[in-house]
Amino acid sequence: MTQNKNTLHQFLENFIFEGKRTVVQSLQTDSRKSLPIFLNEFWTSKQRQAHSIHEISYRACFKPQLPKFFIERLTAPGDIVYDPFTGRGTTIIEAALLGRNVIANDINPLSSLLCKPRLRPPSIEAIEERLYSIYSSKKKSDIDLSMFFHKKTLSEILGLQEYFLQKKKKDFLDEWIQMTATNRLTGHSKGFFSVYTLPPNQALSAEKQRKINIERNQQPEYRDTKKLILKKTKQLQKDLTETDRAALQQISAKARFFSADARKTKAIPDSSVQLTVTSPPFLDVVQYADDNWLRCWFNGIDAEAIGKKITMSKKLEDWCAVMQSVFHELYRITKARGYVAFEVGEVRSGKIRLEEFVVELGIASGFFCEGIMINQQNFTKTANIWGVHNNAKGTNTNRIVIFQKP
Ligand SMILES: C[S@@+](CC[C@H](N)C(=O)[O-])C[C@H]1O[C@@H](n2cnc3c(N)ncnc32)[C@H](O)[C@@H]1O
Repeated sequence: MTQNKNTLHQFLENFIFEGKRTVVQSLQTDSRKSLPIFLNEFWTSKQRQAHSIHEISYRACFKPQLPKFFIERLTAPGDIVYDPFTGRGTTIIEAALLGRNVIANDINPLSSLLCKPRLRPPSIEAIEERLYSIYSSKKKSDIDLSMFFHKKTLSEILGLQEYFLQKKKKDFLDEWIQMTATNRLTGHSKGFFSVYTLPPNQALSAEKQRKINIERNQQPEYRDTKKLILKKTKQLQKDLTETDRAALQQISAKARFFSADARKTKAIPDSSVQLTVTSPPFLDVVQYADDNWLRCWFNGIDAEAIGKKITMSKKLEDWCAVMQSVFHELYRITKARGYVAFEVGEVRSGKIRLEEFVVELGIASGFFCEGIMINQQNFTKTANIWGVHNNAKGTNTNRIVIFQKP
């Protein structure tokens, strides 16, 4: 099942998606004479192609089709798949569904809170029973959240918060409810606990929310938090088969979760990982701490402290310095002939080709670079590598640099 470099190259070169052949171009690099760039639509972007269990929103997450493409081709069941920047856990969940062992890491503790419960999804009946044993709070909130939530909704949210923060040993039912409630806190439809606001992976400040409420002439209405948690649970579990449950349960027993800096993951043994599929914090600053202040408040996490630890490099040199250390660490933990697929998305409207810097970083750490894959939605035969920078709005490219450890 595991492919060597020639077969991977051939596979990408001969890949045909809905009649469209891969365009192969070459890039002159500092450290290698020429490197192949493979351009095609390598996976469909259609939502229904992805398992419903992934549907937890997180800023800058990738589609499950991306890790799936690499996991299926570059690993066998039982191999270890790793993500140093796990986010909502797209790589981890997809790997577990495919029967691969997993190691997750993210400096933001919200990441494991959102990912881990989905490796052990409880039955809907058990969730319902637990949920209705948790009572609303009689206390007042420590901060004013009246611009987001109706009074009664807030008492229910505070009841959940007290329950999670006070319970010393949370079980998998508690963890599932905590994840789902965190996901439902704020959003732009009646499926969320809040009045209309930004989508759930971004939280407005209290001040900005007040302004929105005035502009839209709106006030928070009551939302039944328990009903909404159950509704979201059913949506997440919609595609879950008994086979999926069994696969996830088996993997969850050995899964490991860390919240370290990706440069320092001492707990991961040398030469243990077959494949890493990851996308790092981007050069253009995503304010993970600001986006997540309400989610952090609900879970008793200090958003400011986390914000300081999260890598945010505005300058390319700084970003490259951090990622160089990440690559050294990836080299240490990757097995001989194991792979790294490193996704950088499109940065500053394509003005900076981050993927070309990533090529050099990986090579400097000792990896062999297989090439760059550019996955473009709505790819046409006439597209070329540089033309993809002029994408029409709404289309998306993923730029993935693929490495193998010799
Ligand atoms: C682009 S997101 C990853 C999204 C992920 N691929 C997904 O599908 O959800 C980058 C992640 O890197 C994390 N992060 C930022 N700096 C980090 C660091 N130095 N070490 C580990 N994780 C870090 C952030 O918390 C964020 O979750």
